[in-house]
Amino acid sequence: MQEPTRKSAFPEDFQWGVATSAFQLEGSPNADWSTWDPVLSDIPEITNHYAVFREDLKLLKELGVNAYRFSIEWSRIQPRPDTWDDEAIAHYQEIIDILRSYNIEPMVTLHHFTHPRWFLEQCPWHRTASVEKFLRYTEKMVSTLRNVRYWITFNEPYVILIGGYLDGCIPPGLRDVPRSLVALKNIFTSHGKAYDIIHRYIPDAQVSIAHNMSVFAPWKKWNPFDRLLKKSANYFYNHSVINAFRTGVFIVKFPFSRAVQIEVPIKDKLDFFGVNYYTRIHLRFNPFKKMGVELRHLDIDGHGLTNIGWEVHPRGLAKVLRYASRLNLPIFITENGIATHDAEMKVTYMKQHVDVIERCLKDGLDVRGYFYWTLIDNYEWLQGLDARFGLYRVDFKTLKRYPTSAATYYAYLIKSRSKI
Ligand code: BGC
Repeated sequence: MQEPTRKSAFPEDFQWGVATSAFQLEGSPNADWSTWDPVLSDIPEITNHYAVFREDLKLLKELGVNAYRFSIEWSRIQPRPDTWDDEAIAHYQEIIDILRSYNIEPMVTLHHFTHPRWFLEQCPWHRTASVEKFLRYTEKMVSTLRNVRYWITFNEPYVILIGGYLDGCIPPGLRDVPRSLVALKNIFTSHGKAYDIIHRYIPDAQVSIAHNMSVFAPWKKWNPFDRLLKKSANYFYNHSVINAFRTGVFIVKFPFSRAVQIEVPIKDKLDFFGVNYYTRIHLRFNPFKKMGVELRHLDIDGHGLTNIGWEVHPRGLAKVLRYASRLNLPIFITENGIATHDAEMKVTYMKQHVDVIERCLKDGLDVRGYFYWTLIDNYEWLQGLDARFGLYRVDFKTLKRYPTSAATYYAYLIKSRSKI
């Protein structure tokens, strides 16, 4: 796809990156998730990234990115409550050192869905002790890892809450509203306290969460219940977190129930805001479904549905970036990507979303970075190995990596839109 010649709106220091998560690339024998999904018993090392990471990091150079978001697998660092694994720490330090030698800015995620198994057994997020355990791990990381400025404490805390405590599809697999609220308090308290710890060790650190934002629409516009659901979902997903960072209070209001207020020590505990954006979701009132909600993806714009059935809706990115800008902080798109075998569809998706960012920059939004999800095909939490988000295709039999035309296109896009 040829780029028109024109003046780029992207600032010189814009971070062009890709994002990954440790478990999705490398698994971990001590993680709660490794026994959660039977698919993993056949392929516990997933892409074998833990062993061949040096080769994979070379792909970043090939792409020409200047930033890389990756996560640390907590269960490798602290396989037992009283054991720190120095080799694992050295492993992640080597990733950072390699990135620095390539002039690539690391952005480190401390928690990307998985936990050490002991954590889940002894003190999952609905237990108060979870906070102290997470903070010990955080302190260990920030006091030992060198040369990291950008930190994400939690990836998508709402996914942990919805998936782990309301829907039960991810660990700890509960369907328990009261416990979900305690977990919310503990996770965000952990963020607030981790923010202070990180700044104590690294005064110029930039700290955030990566929050998944989505656009919602009523299934049938004429249906007042569908419209009400849209309003509640939009408030809950897109606004309640932003408000809580501004005020220190979460107002949680599930559809058809009373609002609950939860105080959390996170007021102003953000240096930037990480936004993960993928899709739009249509909502339908259905009294036979959990909480009366049915979710659907409809191909309204005609861009097609992805491999995992998600709608492609680039305009939604502008909407969520405008919501996020209410925080008056720099925004990073910490994830955006598409699951498809069709590399051309991937190219179009990426171009459409980057065009939206460019328009937002022209409108004055303070967007500082874009991280494509993801570098190589990986394990997708609920869909296994065939989602295909990667710029590089992985053959899961031989574990060989192959560039797709989307990798070539991203390299070209970075060059053509950068002012450098
Ligand atoms: C998560 C990733 C996941 C991606 C696609 C994001 O919500 O952070 O781990 O693979 O979405 O589902």
